[in-house]
Amino acid sequence: MNRRRRIYEGKAKILYEGPEPGTLIQHFKDDATAFNNKKHDIIDGKGVLNNRISEFVFEHLNRLGVPTHFIRRVNMREQLVREVEIVPLEVIVRNVAAGSLCTRLGLEEGTQLPRSIIEFCYKKDELGDPLVAEEHITAFGWANPQELDDIMALTIRINDFLSGMFAAVGIRLVDFKIEFGRLWEGDMMRIVLADEISPDSCRLWDMSTGDKMDKDRFRKDLGGMIEAYQEVARRLGILNESERPVTDGPRLVK
Ligand code: TMP
Repeated sequence: MNRRRRIYEGKAKILYEGPEPGTLIQHFKDDATAFNNKKHDIIDGKGVLNNRISEFVFEHLNRLGVPTHFIRRVNMREQLVREVEIVPLEVIVRNVAAGSLCTRLGLEEGTQLPRSIIEFCYKKDELGDPLVAEEHITAFGWANPQELDDIMALTIRINDFLSGMFAAVGIRLVDFKIEFGRLWEGDMMRIVLADEISPDSCRLWDMSTGDKMDKDRFRKDLGGMIEAYQEVARRLGILNESERPVTDGPRLVK
C-alpha cells in the first residue's frame, strides 16, 4: 500500500521521501503523546486537523516573508515540504505563564508575562528535552551565533503574527513551540521554520471563557480534544460548518 521510503518517524508525524530531490512528505498521524511518550492515545481525526491548521499558518508565514519548509498540502494528512537539516532545539515562546514555567518559577497559571520570553530546549528524547541556555547551544555547536540570531529574529516575527492571528478569532496565544532547519541552496544556507504549528504545539485559550483549546486537554485528561481542535480550525475559517474531517467519529480521551 505504502511503498514510499520512510525517512523518519516521530511521535505524531512521519517523514517520507518526497517526489523530487530535496523534498519530503510530512504525514500527520492521529497519535497523541505527552510526558515524553509516557501517555499515548489515538485521537481519530487529529492528524487531519493539524495538517490543515499547520498548512494555514505556514502559508501565511511564507506570504509574509518568513521562510518555512512548507511547499503545499497534498492530501488530508500530508504536505510536501523542503528537506532541511533540523536544528536540535525546541524554541519555546511564552506570552502568559503556563506549564513548565509555572512549575519551575512558582508562577500562577495565567499570569501575563512582562514581555514575551523565548526559551530553548535541547531536542533529545532520552534526556527529556532539557532547558538549555544560548551558551550551551553555541558551545556544543547545536547552532552558531549567527544562526541563533536568525532563529530569535524569526521567532519574534512568528510570535507577533500568531498572537494577532489568534486574537482576531478570540483565542489567546499563551505559548508555543517551534523548530527550525537549515535549508541548503547550492552552497548557501538559510534558517527556515520547519516541523508544524498546531494545537499540539501551542497553548490556546478561549479569550472569553478561558477554556483550553490545545493538547493540554489530552495532557490533563479534560476530554473534548478533537472538538477543541475543530473549533480552532473553524474559527480560523479553515473548516466550513458542513465540512468535517473524515474520521470514525470523535472518541473521548480517557
Ligand atoms: P511546557 O510548558 O510544557 O514547557 O510547554 C511549552 C510549550 O511547548 C507548550 O505550548 C507546549 C509545547 N510543547 C511541545 O510542543 N512539545 C513538547 O514536547 C513540550 C514539552 C511542549
